[in-house]
Amino acid sequence: MGILTQEIKDFVNKQRMGFVATVSPDNSPNLSPKGTTVVYTDEHLIFTGIRSEHTLSNLEKNPLVDINVVNPIKRKGYRFKGTATIISEGKEFENILNQYRDLGIKSKVKAIVLVKVNSAELITSPLYDLGLSEQEIESEWTQRYSSD
Ligand SMILES: Cc1cc2nc3c(=O)[nH]c(=O)nc-3n(C[C@H](O)[C@H](O)[C@H](O)COP(=O)(O)O)c2cc1C
Repeated sequence: MGILTQEIKDFVNKQRMGFVATVSPDNSPNLSPKGTTVVYTDEHLIFTGIRSEHTLSNLEKNPLVDINVVNPIKRKGYRFKGTATIISEGKEFENILNQYRDLGIKSKVKAIVLVKVNSAELITSPLYDLGLSEQEIESEWTQRYSSD
């Protein structure tokens, strides 16, 4: 089994939202959401370059990437560290694009970012340190999101 367990795969594929951090040429951080973040293999995540000018240009110069995928209701998630490859043509690009079309992604995809995951770490809110159960936390945040 690869670094991405079935539990992690199910989690990421359900959330489908990665907050992607790259390093800019001036060494400043660059963080942006990618709502097309899904699992590709036992050790790879992918996301699309649809409107991701800075993320893509940063990764061309420095392929190191951090991705956080968090369930905002359950207040837990995963942080991934990896190395990115940009694919913008060829058979693998077409195959992945077809997978995205099957997921309902209709936007023009300029590139696919393939991330080889080097580490995957569970992250939980400090709320859990207070002894609250997942159900209690879920119920509180469901209420918060549903109120005006
Ligand atoms: C909820 C959400 C999901 C997004 N998903 C994607 C995505 O999957 N791919 C993409 O290219 N842009 C996506 N975007 C748009 C980029 O995050 C946005 O254009 C951002 O400014 C790009 O920053 P960058 O140039 O640093 O990558 C998304 C934006 C939001 C708000």
